[in-house]
Amino acid sequence: MNDKQLAACEAANAVKNGMIVGLGTGSTANYFIEALAERQNNEKLQITTVSSSVISFIKAKQLGLSVQSIEQLSHLDLYVDGADEVSPDGTLLKGRGSDLVKEKILATASQQFLVLVDQSKLVNRIGEKFAIPIEVMPFAWQLVKNNLEEMGGTGNLRLNANEDNVAITAHGSLVLDMTFDTEISTPLLNEHLNGLPGVVEHGIFTNLATTILIGKDGKVEERQLK
Ligand code: 5RP
Repeated sequence: MNDKQLAACEAANAVKNGMIVGLGTGSTANYFIEALAERQNNEKLQITTVSSSVISFIKAKQLGLSVQSIEQLSHLDLYVDGADEVSPDGTLLKGRGSDLVKEKILATASQQFLVLVDQSKLVNRIGEKFAIPIEVMPFAWQLVKNNLEEMGGTGNLRLNANEDNVAITAHGSLVLDMTFDTEISTPLLNEHLNGLPGVVEHGIFTNLATTILIGKDGKVEERQLK
């Protein structure tokens, strides 16, 4: 088992009978979905899941998990997802995929949010390794980009896998992948993006994770945040 899988198995072991569990998106979230389905089948647990993306929905269904729609969700016990970066205070960068809107909604709604990473995701500062994904209304992208450039940001619209067109998110938005000067603090940037018209959602997740499970050299280290 690799370090991401080890963290995913530990998270699956934290699931209790009767829980409603949110499924993240990405390779680590996929390991969690597999481990959760295995536990459900071996232990005959009654678990309901809700997915953050079409791909996680399909995987969960294929493995026999029951998936309810997010539209009907009134309560979430546990949300489990990976991250692209985790800073020392537990702030996350997410959204390398195109599903950060539902990811943040589920992470916010959940009683507990378990984040699964290997040590390559640990950074000193959000934005150290990856650009900040900013999902924008298609007609607002230029104005949002200009605004962020005035703050010292640089970046561009994300392209699709063939790099012959812009990438479109699950909800029909465009994505600006922006990097910022180190002088702009993450809390300030988060606040600015939260209040900027035209921004649908962005990849900085502050004060949401309750536990970070870090797969490291064949073991899992647990960092409790709340
Ligand atoms: C998708 C995400 C993923 O959780 C993040 O990109 C980590 O992916 P992986 O588990 O494949 O390393 O935020 O929007």
